Amino acid sequence: GSVVLAYSGGLDTSCILVWLKEQGYDVIAYLVRERPRCLLVSVCLPASAQVASLSAHCYSFKPGFSSLKPGDGGVSAEAPGALYASWPLSLPTSSSGFLFPQVFIEDVSREFVEEFIWPAIQSSALYEDRYLLGTSLARPCIARKQVEIAQREGAKYVSHGATGKGNDQVRFELTCYSLAPQIKVIAPWRMPEFYNRFKGRNDLMEYAKQHGIPIPVTPKNPWSMDENLMHISYEAGILENPKNQAPPGLYTKTQDPAKAPNTPDILEIEFRKGVPVKVTNVKDGTTHQTSLELFMYLNEVAGKHGVGRIDIVENRFIGMKSRGIYETPAGTILYHAHLDIEAFTMDREVRKIKQGLGLKFAELVYTGFWHSPECEFVRHCIAKSQERVEGKVQVSVLKGQVYILGRESPLSLYNEELVSMNVQGDYEPIDATGFININSLRLKEYHRLQSKVTAK
Ligand code: ARG
Ligand code: SIN
Repeated sequence: GSVVLAYSGGLDTSCILVWLKEQGYDVIAYLVRERPRCLLVSVCLPASAQVASLSAHCYSFKPGFSSLKPGDGGVSAEAPGALYASWPLSLPTSSSGFLFPQVFIEDVSREFVEEFIWPAIQSSALYEDRYLLGTSLARPCIARKQVEIAQREGAKYVSHGATGKGNDQVRFELTCYSLAPQIKVIAPWRMPEFYNRFKGRNDLMEYAKQHGIPIPVTPKNPWSMDENLMHISYEAGILENPKNQAPPGLYTKTQDPAKAPNTPDILEIEFRKGVPVKVTNVKDGTTHQTSLELFMYLNEVAGKHGVGRIDIVENRFIGMKSRGIYETPAGTILYHAHLDIEAFTMDREVRKIKQGLGLKFAELVYTGFWHSPECEFVRHCIAKSQERVEGKVQVSVLKGQVYILGRESPLSLYNEELVSMNVQGDYEPIDATGFININSLRLKEYHRLQSKVTAK
């Protein structure tokens, strides 16, 4: 039968690809093409270079393949030729005895931003108070497309390279089973015949050599990385000791705040229904309007100023603690700006309920339940809460920080006259006396009893 493999271009999934063929499957490799990943930002990363070489390879191998055109192999107008030049083709060819499988490269960047990142921004979603969920949000997006391809191509199986100890396996598979219950998942890292054969990186490298699988030439960092449009994570290797500090040079999406510019960028971020619709750089007047474009612009500004780094120990769904370092540049700016415009426009009691829903949402996303009835329900309620979250927030981005400078909104619940110390407005101060008296009743009773108890 056919299996659609979520292929990242890294060593693990490259070996899995060949291994699946060895097991007799027809492999369809499926690559997610998120613009920054294949294009400019990560030209120097091994995984993305592989992505580029793969797509270039597909082109040379299967001319006329629908989603690949010359110049499409990870090369954009922004960096014409860069990838072909920097990464000569080195994928297995028919002469090395291995025929490349069918490949689909899907650009999901826009749906990732609009359907996954925006709901997270609306929810102010944080896992365990700190993690903006960059990997967690990407998984249901990637798996959804994978299932779509499997159904379109009549494949009975899907496969992925997530380990048996992590969250990602749960996220991939819960998505697959939700959207296509009949589908079967092949998870090599949980199959003894695979993990007993490949006990570590060296076994994979050896296997790759034997089978003509190109190994990234870039030296391997002693930690693992996972990157997408929203964030990058660094885990494992030397980071497994939670006391070890991130070595200089680990970070790839953000500048060291200490070395960031001394002058801020001032941005005006406009929200409608709780999502950003326009970003203006107040100093140079440039504007960015489509979801993807403004998100990428915010990544750039935040990256330049060192915004969005965290180093945490978190609780995996599986039950163990793990240490991760994450960079979420644009997401961090938007988190703060959205929180501000929401506070300005949302009713106090609605806000309290919504805050609880946001907490639930974060947990559901982290644990892989994006496509669950409860998560659908929570997203629906949160979207409802955002209907009037509209207006502009001015922020300063400087030295790893996002400072709110001011805000304005046609739908604000803020009443300058009502709150002013100088204007009476529609408010009788004498009424506050009764308000306080009645509120104090319960407290007086409690403390009266309390003094009796302690007197005993
Ligand atoms: N710990 C984070 C999460 O569970 C990041 C996982 C990174 N995933 C990876 N395949 N490296 O969302
Ligand atoms: C993995 O185990 O594949 C990465 C870490 C995680 O999924 O939590």
